[in-house]
Amino acid sequence: MLNEFLQKTENELVKNCDLYFYGDSQVNAAARYSLLNAGKRVRAMFIYLTAQMCGKEWEDYTDLACGVEMIHCYSLIHDDLPCMDDDDLRRGKPSCHKAFPENIALLAGDALIGCGIETVANSNAFSVQDKLKAVTMMCAAMGPKGMIYGQELDLKYETEKADREQLALIHKNKTGQLISLCGKLGSLGCDLTDEQQQAIRVFFANTGLVFQIVDDILDVEGSEEELGKPIGSDSENGKSTFITLYGLEDSKKQVEKLTKEANELLYAQFGEKADNLVNYTKQLAQRKK
Ligand code: IPE
Ligand code: IPE
Ligand code: MG
Ligand code: MG
Ligand code: MG
Repeated sequence: MLNEFLQKTENELVKNCDLYFYGDSQVNAAARYSLLNAGKRVRAMFIYLTAQMCGKEWEDYTDLACGVEMIHCYSLIHDDLPCMDDDDLRRGKPSCHKAFPENIALLAGDALIGCGIETVANSNAFSVQDKLKAVTMMCAAMGPKGMIYGQELDLKYETEKADREQLALIHKNKTGQLISLCGKLGSLGCDLTDEQQQAIRVFFANTGLVFQIVDDILDVEGSEEELGKPIGSDSENGKSTFITLYGLEDSKKQVEKLTKEANELLYAQFGEKADNLVNYTKQLAQRKK
């Protein structure tokens, strides 16, 4: 099932590249290079698995899933730039600004933003009203009260030491916002009780935090070959991470605790329909890349 989700996502992303990123343009070549470059497609999986849990046809959510993957890809291109994390390897290949000139990489990231939104807005599977909701939620999640805010804080605390509360705020925004968006988009058009909506909210809040804690752990314990990105980048940049504030052991305990809490909450509201989403999240908590 996950393979089918993945295959569909890859196929649709190729189609999107053919639609948006073609012709004699370095920007388009760079956007294509980064987008079709072996991402785990975690955010797409979250959207499909949520839709499925809510009793919907997962394929109807393909444009939403691809739109979010395009936004995520833009965030990675910009995150790697010399003025940001200055990382030269991404998804096992030279980062966009290493494969292309830096100014072209910047523009390729920009291009992915608009095209990601357009992909959602053009979906045939939802009413105009639902699509407006989707686009609004997407812009909020990636905007200056969302992911951008998290990235700003992440940079701010390179030179200042963050406390635990500040670190939670960084992670909640820089990574958590897009992951929480997946819960919202995956349940778009679904008739859910307030309790179910709340369970999805808390589940993705915890899952987003866990995702970044594991990313922080892998920056210390992972292998560059498996990860496809440099290890030790956080400490080189003086980042405040879960490891610097809690240490490895405590960070791992929090991953376990938050994952367990999130899963129990989801089971309480959705019963066995939550199985696939819960199992996927458990796998992610143990991931090596
Ligand atoms: C990396 O995201 C950046 C974070 C927000 C931690 P992923 O680990 O999902 O990266 P890809 O898409 O699989 O390359
Ligand atoms: C990235 O966090 C968050 C966003 C791209 C918004 P990191 O800087 O930790 O991600 P990696 O480790 O470079 O993938
Ligand atoms: Mg970063
Ligand atoms: Mg980075
Ligand atoms: Mg990281």
